[in-house]
Amino acid sequence: MTLSQTIYLGVNVDHVATVRQARGVSYPCPVHAALQAELAGADGITMHLREDRRHIQDHDVERFAALCQTKLNFEIAATEEMLNKALALKPKDVCLVPEKREELTTEGGLDVASQKDRLKDYVAAFTEAGIYTSMFIDPDHAQIDACVAIGAPVIELHTGAYAECKTDAAKKAELQKISKASDYASKAGLIVNAGHGLTRQNVAPIAAIDAMNELNIGHSLIADSVYSGLTAAIQEMKKRMLEARQR
Ligand code: PXP
Repeated sequence: MTLSQTIYLGVNVDHVATVRQARGVSYPCPVHAALQAELAGADGITMHLREDRRHIQDHDVERFAALCQTKLNFEIAATEEMLNKALALKPKDVCLVPEKREELTTEGGLDVASQKDRLKDYVAAFTEAGIYTSMFIDPDHAQIDACVAIGAPVIELHTGAYAECKTDAAKKAELQKISKASDYASKAGLIVNAGHGLTRQNVAPIAAIDAMNELNIGHSLIADSVYSGLTAAIQEMKKRMLEARQR
């Protein structure tokens, strides 16, 4: 397989909303940030509407869905409430994630293998509405098989374990796991995305994986923008991703 030189960057703006919610004011605005991210070269925008509404609010997603120039990746838990929201919003993509109220962020992948019957109905409903469903899973063959079995067209591999590795050897092992899972999923016909914990410093090896289509990045981009501004942070990330694919 020849390496596609293109790789897409999805920018997650949840953390802009986190700063706003910390004060209960109207700024900074994640919709404003999303529009600026699009101008800076983001290929899509992710907003995670959590059950507890800790950062993104319903009005944020509704306003951005009406203004979006790229594509909205609507990240949600597989619940009846969120299914109905997504069907009303009609984003291009939905990403199904596990959600626990006590977690700081999405801690692990969705266990698709143990909930195939339930999740296949969600995928079917989204597919019928013309929405691509992405399953946020750990790089694990059994989970990939389960995604294929329920008809999900896209997976997003959880890169959190890779990002947290403390030694080069551990990082190399995690990278290999993600690389093998990407290859396996791509051969099974799935579109392969990845995300979580990716930074300017650790993004290149993940971006260089042959089957990789899109990386979804939030926290480090918003953190970098404190120093350099959102536009520069996004442009630098995208440059590093594209450079990684030229090698
Ligand atoms: N992809 C998914 C499914 C996520 O839940 C998150 C975190 O909200 C991300 C990507 C982005 O992770 P980070 O904010 O660590 O870049």
